[in-house]
Formats: sequence, C-alpha cells, structure tokens
Amino acid sequence: MIRIATLLLSVCFISSLAAQTTAEKRIDKSVDSLLKLMTLDEKIGQMNQYNGPWAATGPLTNEGNLVGQIKEGKVGSMLNVTGVKRTRELQDLAMQSRLKIPLLFGQDVIHGFRTIFPIPLGEAASWDLKAMEAGARVAAVEASAAGVHWTFAPMVDIARDPRWGRVMEGAGEDTYLGSLIAKARVKGFQGNGFGDTASVMACAKHFAAYGAAVGGRDYNSVDMSLRQLHETYLPPFKAAVDAGAATFMNSFNDINGIPATGNKYIQRDILKGQWKFKGFVVSDWGSIGEMINHGYSKDNKEAGMQAANAGSDMDMESRSYIQHLAALVKEGKVKMAVVDDAVRRILRKKFEMGLFADPYKFSNENREKTQWNNPQHRVVARDIAKKSIVLLKNEKQVLPVSKQTGSIALIGPFVKAKSDHLGFWSYDWPDDSTRIVSLWDGVKSKVSAQTKMLYAKGCGITELDKTGFAEAVETARKADYVILTVGETRDMSGEAKSRSSIQLPGVQEELVKEIVSLGKPTVVMISAGRPLVFNWTADHAPAILYTWWLGTEAGNAMADVLFGDYNPSGKLPMSFPRTEGQIPIYYNHYFTGRPAKNDSDRHYRSAYTDLSLYPKYAFGHGLSYSSFEYSEIQLSAPAFHAGQSLTATVSLTNKSKTAGTETVQLYIRDITASVVRPVKELKGFSQVTLAAGETRSVSFTLTADDLRFYNDQLQYIYEPGKFKLFIGTSSDNVKEAEFELK
Ligand code: GLC
Repeated sequence: MIRIATLLLSVCFISSLAAQTTAEKRIDKSVDSLLKLMTLDEKIGQMNQYNGPWAATGPLTNEGNLVGQIKEGKVGSMLNVTGVKRTRELQDLAMQSRLKIPLLFGQDVIHGFRTIFPIPLGEAASWDLKAMEAGARVAAVEASAAGVHWTFAPMVDIARDPRWGRVMEGAGEDTYLGSLIAKARVKGFQGNGFGDTASVMACAKHFAAYGAAVGGRDYNSVDMSLRQLHETYLPPFKAAVDAGAATFMNSFNDINGIPATGNKYIQRDILKGQWKFKGFVVSDWGSIGEMINHGYSKDNKEAGMQAANAGSDMDMESRSYIQHLAALVKEGKVKMAVVDDAVRRILRKKFEMGLFADPYKFSNENREKTQWNNPQHRVVARDIAKKSIVLLKNEKQVLPVSKQTGSIALIGPFVKAKSDHLGFWSYDWPDDSTRIVSLWDGVKSKVSAQTKMLYAKGCGITELDKTGFAEAVETARKADYVILTVGETRDMSGEAKSRSSIQLPGVQEELVKEIVSLGKPTVVMISAGRPLVFNWTADHAPAILYTWWLGTEAGNAMADVLFGDYNPSGKLPMSFPRTEGQIPIYYNHYFTGRPAKNDSDRHYRSAYTDLSLYPKYAFGHGLSYSSFEYSEIQLSAPAFHAGQSLTATVSLTNKSKTAGTETVQLYIRDITASVVRPVKELKGFSQVTLAAGETRSVSFTLTADDLRFYNDQLQYIYEPGKFKLFIGTSSDNVKEAEFELK
C-alpha cells in the first residue's frame, strides 16, 4: 500500500513541477508574442522608471512631460506613487498607450507602510525569523492595498561600520543571520506568490557590498578581495534569490574599480549566470548617470551602454535609457538581444503579477479601506517590537519596574516622542499623533491608578542647552523610580546619514550623569538607528534598554518590557564599539599572527595600546530577566566524516523565577585551513522558552557543509581538520568543545 502512495505522490510532484513549468511556459509565450509587437522605443520604455510627481527619495530632475511619455508607452514603472487614486490615475494613462502595457508601482516599504514596524536592524535583534516574516507580510498587505506592486526591500547589505547611517536598514554584521533574515523578509513580502493581491514583489538590495563603503561614508568606494565578497557580502543576496526574490537593485558604490551599476561580474556572471536569477535588476536612483561622476562613463549615453550591457535592466531616474538606448542599439553598441532580455524579464513580472489581466487589480478602494486600520497589524507590530528590545544591563534587578510604584519620573527628549519612533524609511500619516504610542502613553497604560507619573524633558536631542537640567533633577528627586530616555533623532541614521561621531548627541549624556548620580533606581532607554557610543552611561547606569526605533507600537512594546509583561529576549546583531577609533569592529575577525589574548597583553599585538580589545557590547549580547545556565557541551562523537553529522548538545536551565526566552547561539572555528579563518562564525541558533526552574537539552547538528568556506581559488569547500565549537548566550560568552572532520 505504501508503495502505491509513494508512486501517487511522486506523480503529483512531477505533475506539479510540470504544471509550474506549464504556467511559466504560458507566460513566456505571452511575453514573446508581446515583444514581437513592440517597437524599439516601446521596449526601451519598459526599461525606464520615473519618480512620481508627489514625493521623492532622491535628487529630482523633473524633466519632460510625464503624462505624455506614459501615454506613448515610454515609461514602464513609477516609484513613490501610492494610494488607489494616484495609481489608478497613472495606470489610466498607461492604458491609453498603443499596447496598453501596465505600469509597475514600486515603493520603499522597508519596515512597514501604514503600520510602521521596528527598523530592520531592530527587528534583526529579535532573531525571530517568523516574526520578521510576519512583519513583512503585514507591510505587503498594507502596501498592496494602496496600489503598490513592488517594494524596494529587503536591504540585505552586511555592515560592520556603525558610522554608516544605513546600518539601520539591514540585518547587521553577520552573514549567516543576515542570510536567514533576507529569506524571511522575501517570503514575507512575496507571500503565496505574485498573483495574490496581498503580496508585493521583493527587491534584494543593494547589489553589492554597499555596506562595506570605506570609512562608513555613504556612497563611498568598496574594495575587497573576491574571496571576501563571496564569503561575507554575497550570501544574503544568494539567499534572496533562493527565496524567489522577484527583483534586485544594484548599488551606488564602485566595487574593485567598477561601479556596481556597470559591473558585469556581479550582475551577469554571478547573479544572472551562476545564480540563474530570472527576475530583473533596477538601478538605484540615478546610479546609471552617476557613473559619469565615478569617472567610468564619459557621458550619460556611454553610461547607458555600460549599464545595459552589464545587466542593469531598468533605469531609475537617470533618463539614460530613454534618451540614448535606441541610438546605442542602432549603432550596435548595445545588441537588441540585450534589450529584449531586459524587457522580457520586466514583462514576465508584470504577467506574473496578473497586471495584464487586470491593470487595476491592486488599486482597490475597498481593500485599501479595510487594510488601512486593521487592528491585527498593530498586534503583529507590537509583538516584534517588544522582541527587538535588547537588555544591555540590569544591575541589582532594577528592572522590571513594579506597576504599583508610588511615583515614576519619565525624563528625557523621547518621553513624549511619537514620529521619532518611526525611524528612517517610514511614512508620516495625518493621524500619527493619535496612532503612534509614545513611551508616556505606554507607561500610563501599565501603572496603577495610584502611581504618580512625573515628566521633565531635561534637554533636546542635539541642542547644547542645559537649562532644563535643574527641573529634570528636581523631578527625579521626587520620584521612587526614574525612566530616562536618550538617543538620536529618526533622521540621524538612514540614507546619506553617515556620521564621524556616534556618541549620544547633544548634552544627553551629561543629563544621564546628573540623573544617575542621584542614586535612584534608574533605567536608561536608548533610541537609535545604529550602535551608539555611550561609555559613561554604560559604566554607571544601573539598567539599560536599547530600543532602536520601534515604530507605531513603540510605547506599548517598551512598557511591555519595562514592567515585565514581556521578558526581554533581544540579542545585538552588531558589535557596539567603545569609540569610533575602534571601528570597524566585528566578532568574526581573523586571529592574525599576533593575537592579543586579553587587555593586558597588548604589546607587539594586533591591538590598540590605548584601548581595550573588546567592543563595549558584543555581537549576540542581550540579557533577560531570567538567568540561564549552560552545561558543558556534549558531542555525539569527537570526529566525523563528510556525509555523516555531528550533534552538539547543551543543557540549558532557567535558574530564575521568571519564564524567559534565550537565543542559544552556535559558533565554530576552523583551527587550521588553506586560508585564515575567523575566530568564530555563527552557524546556528535556537530560541528556547523556559519556565522558571526548567531545564532543557538544546542540540545542534552539524554536517561538513556547515564548515564550508571560500578558498583562494573561490571554491566553496570544506577541509578535514580540527575545529572548535562554541555554544552560548553571546559571541563572547560561550562554552567550548573541539571536534575533528576526518
Ligand atoms: C534611494 C536608495 C534606495 C531606494 C531608492 C528609491 O537612493 O538608495 O535604497 O530604494 O533610492 O527610493
């Protein structure tokens, strides 16, 4: 009987594959027959993307008659056009073109649309892949209800330099975690596939290595070995391809001397060649034309030639293709086959989205209304927001705060902040003042009717005025407990927001000193889009919560953690430097020939003589109201062969009276290899929730594939030899074992 069932199953499987192929074949047939009808100008029109006339996310040129060009089929896509009304208005124009090819509407839906979620770096601190997928799902439902077909997300750039403002947009410094998060976000955005009006096309960006800009200066050059590119920066993009990402966006930076937009190696050899990517690549805003500034193109025409030949399928706001590509084809500098391939890729997505069947499919008033204030979306947002908060410090159990506390002073420039909690790449709506939950609102919703809530702003965020200190100190003196909020503004991180100083801005740390020195039970809450430097606070405040930018539900999530309704579980996705001079600093560095063993061993060592070796807070660091105890590691065997596997187990005990969730992390180190290997590499993690006093075994299984790396021939291999294996609560607090791959 079983054999018949297996046979039936395999027939279904093969036929489902065949069915998929049939659907793909049907679309390819439609694309080919449409392509045959198109003039060269109409083909180039599909490769042309303009910003809408209502909002901009880049330097606008506003040339030309947009309405006329859409009617003539010279525009394939628009960005920054949202809402059923506006998308219908422009789609109407496209339906007046000769071939009625629908427009694609793209939008930066980076961490929410109507309901704003924590910034992606904050979400990454949750290490909760399902929660991140759920957040992207909500964003897709809300954006697609507003006529958006395509989000320019997820940003999957690995970044090791917190001076770069766009660290807020990614998943931090680790390739393994970043790859899993890339996959989760693509799945969340694209849901059950493009035919579904509650899904949008994802766009893995910025291809590639944009996060490695020299000096953390946005748009700056990137120069690295191909081995480093393949080992650290490309895997999250490959994960996005494997997850079915519909599109890619290239990056502003040059890579090893060739601008990404004109870089055949990454766009054609790797992405469309090795990885067999079937979607299309959109340039970043004006990045084709910017190759003139790079000194790579003599003019916009040459830039268009280089970009098209290198695999950039769609031109965002350079106007290079629409102005020069026809001539380039006629002059034989760009083959028609290059244009046809780009147009096929774009048209295929429009067919897959069902836009030819119904160009107005996503512009549905009723769906826009129902999704616009869907209460369930706030539940999802609050869930991941509270999981994103990282407890950096909690001496003398200052946290959680009792809801029955007699009086609580809330002090600092973010106590009543609302829009600042949205972070960069978010949207301001007219009802934000009632929709966004401030810290004050959140605390008020938790405390008893008898609790007195006191408030003093103390100081601004960037201002140097200290006249508010006296009132703040007075207010703190009167209270039983102090909640102090500091940080950077929502616009101090994000695109074009690189900063040479990442200290707490203004006089905020002086305010912290004044308040903490009173010796009251005090928690400092830090809102930021990146790791900041706050050494005095870190060394003296009894408790610190890092809250990133948590979005619409910020105040509720912060209050959930403050009062213990949620036991904090966040873990840092980036190392926190002690000072800017320590950057770049990341946990998975190489040993070097003179590794310093500790802070006293710094002579003739790869170390600064005037600064600790270690970050202020390590990758993976994050405390809990529970206390988790790790047993020594048990290995299933001391060695294994390729084709076999090894299981590593620890016993985890919650020694406290509070249930909590621990993200158990697994790292390895290849002790000797044909190229130097990092001191640690994250290779797994498991989120374990334990009741008070509960003990549970936590196991990880490794195979030889988990030990692979790129050798100096760019082969992705594993090599027999000895390895260390680490399991623990953060990259700098682990149990250790050793095994051998035979
Ligand atoms: C910006 C960003 C990119 C964004 C695009 C459209 O310059 O680099 O991430 O998607 O332009 O807004």
